Amino acid sequence: TYIVTDSCINCKYTDCVEVCPVDCFYEGENFLVIHPDECIDCGVCEPECPVEAILPDTEAEMENWVALNGKYAELWPNIAERKDPMPDADAWAEKTGKLPHLSE
Ligand code: SF4
Ligand code: F3S
Repeated sequence: TYIVTDSCINCKYTDCVEVCPVDCFYEGENFLVIHPDECIDCGVCEPECPVEAILPDTEAEMENWVALNGKYAELWPNIAERKDPMPDADAWAEKTGKLPHLSE
């Protein structure tokens, strides 16, 4: 599966959702997740994200991100169409370690 990591937080550019063939993105207040059980591993979303928030779970130490994506994918509504990024997206795009800013 591919998953969304914290670089997405407070950005939500949503370029990713338009290309997903199985519409497996879910939207929270300031973050998106991929449903790990629905993702078919096609990889087309990965290069679409301008902040490189999307990674394959084959990268090292991805277990926590898979669990977090799975948890919120069950709680948040589906998103399949692109929308405007968050108001301060470009300022937040430069930041790292954004997990403490996740709105549940
Ligand atoms: Fe959707 Fe493919 Fe990205 Fe998985 S890898 S979330 S199926 S676009
Ligand atoms: Fe987030 Fe990147 Fe998609 S910022 S909404 S994962 S394009």
